[in-house]
Amino acid sequence: MSQALVLGIETSCDETGVGIVRGTTLLADCVASSVAEHERFGGVVPEIASRAHLEAMSPAIERACIDAGIALWEIDAVAVTSGPGLIGALLVGVAAAKALGLALDKPVYGVNHLAAHVAVDRLEHGKLPQPAIAMLVSGGHSSILRVDDLTHDVVPLGATIDDAAGEAFDKIARLLGLAFPGGPHLDVLAREGNRDAIAFPRGLTAAHDMRDHRYDFSFSGLKTSVARWIEARQRAGEAVPIADVAASFQEAVVDVLTTKALLACAEQGINHLLVAGGVAANSRLRAVIEQRAQAQGVLVRIPRPGLCTDNGAMVAALGAALVEAHIPPTALNFGADSSFPVDRVVR
Ligand code: KG4
Ligand code: ZN
Repeated sequence: MSQALVLGIETSCDETGVGIVRGTTLLADCVASSVAEHERFGGVVPEIASRAHLEAMSPAIERACIDAGIALWEIDAVAVTSGPGLIGALLVGVAAAKALGLALDKPVYGVNHLAAHVAVDRLEHGKLPQPAIAMLVSGGHSSILRVDDLTHDVVPLGATIDDAAGEAFDKIARLLGLAFPGGPHLDVLAREGNRDAIAFPRGLTAAHDMRDHRYDFSFSGLKTSVARWIEARQRAGEAVPIADVAASFQEAVVDVLTTKALLACAEQGINHLLVAGGVAANSRLRAVIEQRAQAQGVLVRIPRPGLCTDNGAMVAALGAALVEAHIPPTALNFGADSSFPVDRVVR
């Protein structure tokens, strides 16, 4: 079966995503977000997210089938995020996928959310050249992966040792008074600021850190540094130049992410780099990484912003790749796994 029709379900955080693909062709990408319900708490509330998934699931499946112009019984396989993510939220998607698999008598794949973020690029730029380096930067994860085979050989080279890149964006955005989730708002605000205004620290780039944490990230020191800088201005009774703070903070994050991703490419002798996850939607990151990669002879792939954030199409894309590679489906007694290991693509 080379052009499998796969329905993908994503519920690891606050987006209920149902996508349908045929091989590497995107047919439907239906996303219902509960983000507005979390806004007043300044972060995702797991119980609220789980309930919202329950309410959105059936309508999202129906909508996706209508958009794709297919009947549910026509699908060849179901793929679902088994983890990592919020356990209660994951459970809703896993239960829905199992129900569909049983009712339709179709195979079900319980897949890794991170690998799905990488797989989504197949829908836009075709099959990923392998080996490739993938940098995954989202609200929950920041990793550099070596992808020798997307369906079964993904090796973590480094990851954040504290906050994820998106988490850092969201926390700084909050300090600057921006709405949640702050990443996209900070991206816009930073365009009006001077990125060289304040020299914020680049985490884990000192010589000893490059020895022990070569491909790892740390954003908590940067976060503290930005908070202290703002506090000092406020104590002195001075106005806080929020656009300059946003631009300088963003530059520090973008600089570290770009430097380490391209270092991994150089040292692993790999000239294909894929950038994925919500933070890959950041306009400055996209521009800087393209520019520096070109100078190094590395070819960069970044899915369009709408595919970088959580969605069901990415899960369907990975499911289709697994079917194509004849990887056996998951036994139906699988569960949600909030700490699904990064080097396992499917359960
Ligand atoms: O991949 P994603 O949708 O969900 C997770 O798996 O975490 O990523 C969401 C994260 C949030 O932290 C959000 O603020 C960040 O991605 N994000 C951005 C941008 N768009 C989304 N961060 C910076 N700039 C953006 N344009
Ligand atoms: Zn994600």
